[in-house]
Amino acid sequence: MPKTILIKNIKTLAGIDEENLLLKKGKQMSEFKSIDDACVLIEDGIIKEFGHHSTFNIQLSTIETIDAKGGFVLPSFVDSHTHLVFAKTREEEFVMRINGKSYEEIADAGGGILNSAKKLQSMSENELFDSTLIRLHEVIKFGTGAIEIKSGYGLTVKDELKMLRVIARLKEASPIVIKATFLGAHAFPTEFKNNHEGYIKLILNEMLPNIAAEKLADYCDVFCDKGFFNPTETDVILNAAAKFGLKAKIHANELGYTGGVQVGVKNRALSVDHLEYIGDEEINCLKNSNTMPVALPNCSFFLGIPYAPVRKMIDAGLPVCLASDYNPGSSPNGRMSFIISLACTQMKLRPEEALNASTINGAYALELSKSHGSITIGKQANFFITKPISSLALIPYSFGVDFVDRVFINGNEI
Ligand code: NIG
Ligand code: FE
Repeated sequence: MPKTILIKNIKTLAGIDEENLLLKKGKQMSEFKSIDDACVLIEDGIIKEFGHHSTFNIQLSTIETIDAKGGFVLPSFVDSHTHLVFAKTREEEFVMRINGKSYEEIADAGGGILNSAKKLQSMSENELFDSTLIRLHEVIKFGTGAIEIKSGYGLTVKDELKMLRVIARLKEASPIVIKATFLGAHAFPTEFKNNHEGYIKLILNEMLPNIAAEKLADYCDVFCDKGFFNPTETDVILNAAAKFGLKAKIHANELGYTGGVQVGVKNRALSVDHLEYIGDEEINCLKNSNTMPVALPNCSFFLGIPYAPVRKMIDAGLPVCLASDYNPGSSPNGRMSFIISLACTQMKLRPEEALNASTINGAYALELSKSHGSITIGKQANFFITKPISSLALIPYSFGVDFVDRVFINGNEI
């Protein structure tokens, strides 16, 4: 007997897509289709049917029903960019920035990513797993229904593998889908400060082959930016990763117009992420590509750097995705509803655009559009029920407020 569940008494079922779009771009991003007074039927964890309650002719006594109590139902967020595995928080650097130091100055002095790496190197795999699992469950409660997690705080062969093994164990333990990204090229370790070639050789000859042998990564990332990896170095690493079957998802243009977008598109990156510095050249380059531009507004908010010009990008016809960048340095928070608020207040996205950016476009950036990111028949029943709210716009409007009431992953309540 299939397990059937009916969600009833839904004030508004939102984020419906009957066309099975893989992503939304330009004007499409303003459409977040909804039905009022709706029901959803789930069979074996998959969305079977939905519609106005009057169209449902089901013997309610025979199946399990869940009363949404007049809340909205939305597809779960897909958070396509996080650094969820880390050892310790970095509030001391937060205070240094308040006192006038920049993110780059702190990194140059051995803080930042190298600081996180030092702390992670002395932590055991089990400790890392336990602390990350807590954060994973926190973000699931905030409405995230699929997530990407990067390595990049190991920076030695042993510790990058340790991080990726933690992610592999999280995949097993997690109710939500996790994609793993290898980010050995996150920063040059101190001993390679004047020997970039040496570290890149380590990535190419030791890290990538071991990761591929253990099948520990889905994607490869490089922090292509001022003071980190330049476009030529990035190109070499992405090329090598492609030979091991790892598609690119890179950090680009956070600290300047560095050519990161161009090298990402050249390597057919699934996404280029950050994008605080984007001009017409980068927009035109993205227009002729299948690469998803991903903005990380938490990072701009927390570091006080410019916001990615996503209004301009959508108006130019591009798709845009929003993700949390949850990490201890630039975004110590993974609550997607706050990211949507920032996108609306600071980047002038409409609520519908911000919701598409954090659901279906997030799914695209993780190659999950066929199963995640919208309320569509045949997709996984990943959604949340909100507390009673007056409209969709209330979600970004009520910044910092938790409106997620009940979370369902594959039809199971979490
Ligand atoms: O996406 N910019 C590069 N990496 C992370 C931050 C890493 C850190 O500061 O620990 C980011 O912002
Ligand atoms: Fe990041």
